[in-house]
Amino acid sequence: MQSLNQWKADEYDNKLAFVSGYGKNLISWLQPKKGEYILDLGCGTGDLTHEISLCEVEIVGIDASSDMIRRARDKYPHLEFKAGDGHYFETNRLFDAIFSNAALHWMRDPELVVSSIWNALKPGGRFVAEFGGKGNVDIIVHALEEVIERSTGMDASARNPWYFPTIGEYSSLLEKQGFMVRQAYHYDRPTKLSDGDRGIEGWLSQFGGDYFQGLDTKQIQEICLETSKRVVPQLWKEDAIYADYKRLRVEAVKPVI
Ligand code: BEZ
Repeated sequence: MQSLNQWKADEYDNKLAFVSGYGKNLISWLQPKKGEYILDLGCGTGDLTHEISLCEVEIVGIDASSDMIRRARDKYPHLEFKAGDGHYFETNRLFDAIFSNAALHWMRDPELVVSSIWNALKPGGRFVAEFGGKGNVDIIVHALEEVIERSTGMDASARNPWYFPTIGEYSSLLEKQGFMVRQAYHYDRPTKLSDGDRGIEGWLSQFGGDYFQGLDTKQIQEICLETSKRVVPQLWKEDAIYADYKRLRVEAVKPVI
């Protein structure tokens, strides 16, 4: 259920700082209030957990990758971080709010995740999240799957690790659980990649692990290079490659019964 991607905390911090950079804007939907108890679900290396903590809240970050958690603890030793799977996390103390940026698309059983979130929130508690929505990175994914299928003969789409729902699908899922969906927004967010014209290779090396299981280094390099050649002409704008990100942003509340 959980992706097989191997997270590399170093690369995440050095080359993918845009992930938390863009996520800062999501904090304006969370509106953390002094003294609140908040969970950052899928916290990565903890940058947004730290940003939210500046609002004088009590915060806990959880992430499925122990490498990310180790790095988060090194960077922010005064904050609490735990390794944990978003499908099954539990808490003894209920949260005022649960926040999640760029993580939920890695969790393939959204019903389980939404149910864990529901169980961990106080009545009246809010859930604020942003992640990949329907159509996210379509250009990259289609090219990658085609290149893998041509070079290995396998059905690459069966290895797609991501959950990118429509606004309707995800809102219905939340409502079925009992949430009141206050706001939901599906939008294009072209995302500038670092590394100049090698940006796609870097992106695939950080995020494409599920597709590359069982392939050798040479095969992986060739697949990344060929995918890059196919998509760069479509994604290059003026000064860089802009990946075709589409975000789904939601705010939902657990009603007080
Ligand atoms: C995203 O943030 O949309 C994303 C990141 C890595 C892989 C797929 C999507």
